[in-house]
Amino acid sequence: MRISIVSSTPLAATPAPGLTTDDSLRCRVLADLIGFPPEIPRDADLVLLSGYPVDGRLLAALESCNASAPHCAVVPVLAAPPADQVVQLMQAGAPDIVGSLGAADLDALIGRVRERLRRAALPADAVRTIGLVSAKGGDGATCIAANLAAALSRCPGTRVMALDLSLPFGDLEIHLTSEQPQHDLADVLAQIDRLDATLLDALSHPVGEQLRLIPSPAEFERFIEVKPPLVGRLLTLASQSYRFVVVDLGGGTDPVSLSLLGHFDQLLLVATPDIASLRRASKVLRMWQGMGRDTSRVGLVANRVTAHPEVPVTRFAATLGLPVLREIADESDGVSQSLLEGAPVLVTAPTSAFSRAIRHWAADLSGVQPVEESLWTSFKQLWRAA
Ligand SMILES: Nc1ncnc2c1ncn2[C@@H]1O[C@H](COP(=O)(O)OP(=O)(O)O)[C@@H](O)[C@H]1O
Ligand SMILES: [Mg+2]
Repeated sequence: MRISIVSSTPLAATPAPGLTTDDSLRCRVLADLIGFPPEIPRDADLVLLSGYPVDGRLLAALESCNASAPHCAVVPVLAAPPADQVVQLMQAGAPDIVGSLGAADLDALIGRVRERLRRAALPADAVRTIGLVSAKGGDGATCIAANLAAALSRCPGTRVMALDLSLPFGDLEIHLTSEQPQHDLADVLAQIDRLDATLLDALSHPVGEQLRLIPSPAEFERFIEVKPPLVGRLLTLASQSYRFVVVDLGGGTDPVSLSLLGHFDQLLLVATPDIASLRRASKVLRMWQGMGRDTSRVGLVANRVTAHPEVPVTRFAATLGLPVLREIADESDGVSQSLLEGAPVLVTAPTSAFSRAIRHWAADLSGVQPVEESLWTSFKQLWRAA
């Protein structure tokens, strides 16, 4: 990794993070950020800006770096910025903030940037299976899973399976449909030996033209039939039959979730940025690691983000050592309406920041723009008429 440290005054000592022989570290002094040289981010993977106050010059430098070298992470060095400054810096394009140029802080930051580069290098179709885990109950894993699945299915040519493995009692369907699905997970698993793409399509509930849903078992007795190896086979078949499989894993600590963690191309830890969620998220991650589970594909989705979160999202992620994959705004009205109507927030509040963020995310994953809600309604009518 090519690292460049730009400081307002000469550094007392050259920082000494743990680097490999492929890495390089350059330090330079730039008294003022006006006219920040674009070649600095262009020739680096990570630029650290040290000793600059959070003002218009720093924000302008971040914005211009982001425009001229989007591959490069440009990270301000700030000991304890207040929450409103963190929001401003992130809006200007800072993907991270580091507290100091000390080796421990730099090592943690470099680890996060390496992961970002690794993900950026993945081919566009690398992600097929996405598992969502709620840091603590109520953080929004189900709501995000439902809306992401709905947005992905609005991308032309993109068939999606939404699978509810939030056991024993999931509620994924209430975010997507007002209908009562005929079959549930236990019915599908009962057919596992003869299950193929056609039967899977027939047993799952049609939510839209390109979205199928398998709800969790409706009664506790049926939940007993949900055995980890059978669910593993279902997940493999679903990932061969649909472009995306979006799975609600609930708290992520039950035997079925634990047995499946390795199946996912991406595991999303959905958390509201507060202390209770941070504690729970850290316990979940430690549990996974303690059980030898690979956590390199885990990313943070910060949900219900407001201008002044209890814990700034970058801090939250840094404490857990996770990359921030998405930030989703709080959208109480659209979400309440969604639950009342049994339709995704994309439908009940299509122009909200929530829906915009989910649509961008779906476009980034699928490489195709989701069809806007008004057009989608017309398309559906046309399809039905055809
Ligand atoms: N971004 C959001 N804005 C407003 N309400 C939300 C948001 N995300 C989730 N909710 C609501 O919070 C509650 C808990 O969400 P849910 O998805 O069921 O959490 P989990 O599955 O993590 O337990 C639900 O009523 C849900 O609709
Ligand atoms: Mg849930």
